[in-house]
Amino acid sequence: MADCNIVVLISGSGSNLQALIDSIAQDSNPARIAAVISNRADAYGLVRAQNAGIPTRVLDHRQFDGREAFDAALIEAIDGFDPQLVVLAGFMRILTPGFVNHYTGRLLNIHPSLLPKYKGLHTHQRALEAGDSEHGCSVHFVTEELDGGPLVVQAVLPVLPGDTVESLAQRVHQQEHRIYPLAVRWFAEGRLRLGAQGAMLDGKLLPASGHLIRT
Ligand code: GAR
Repeated sequence: MADCNIVVLISGSGSNLQALIDSIAQDSNPARIAAVISNRADAYGLVRAQNAGIPTRVLDHRQFDGREAFDAALIEAIDGFDPQLVVLAGFMRILTPGFVNHYTGRLLNIHPSLLPKYKGLHTHQRALEAGDSEHGCSVHFVTEELDGGPLVVQAVLPVLPGDTVESLAQRVHQQEHRIYPLAVRWFAEGRLRLGAQGAMLDGKLLPASGHLIRT
């Protein structure tokens, strides 16, 4: 199977990037991380990439005159690596419609909630405050709507008595590290794509929730 070139965008710790690096190293995974790009020079994920021998770039959004200019430079940097897939792994920037449309069908994001619940920030706190019995994380194709777009896979976990933001965040993170490599592998293997009606796996339309994994 031909390799699938991937560019990963990060802003922080990069634990999801690490999970992807580890999953690709393990076996006959056709995914190849061609580069990691961060909008922050101090993102620890850059160190993780360097340790794995992956080229890195930093594009500091503060040095650009507005979102359009930053996203145009970002597209140029990404496309220099000729990726088939762009993976947002804790990339904490709102993307312009121009950027999103440029990568339609080849842009994935992970979000720490059971979308469409809790778009945006502070998802664990919001789930706790709402008294939810379940919480989790979602991988989705990116569209113009913030944290919207057809769902690919969700991991659902129970909220336990005594859970705090930290304990919940930790368990959600563990699941992120499971479902993101899975979704990326599906894409790299040519099994996952964005159809007119939504995300398709093995030629079949996935349910609106994406593929559900309960833990
Ligand atoms: C992850 O929890 C990811 O779901 C979240 O940022 C974190 C990055 O962690 N992304 C979003 O909230 C996007 N809306 P990491 O840097 O350790 O992978």
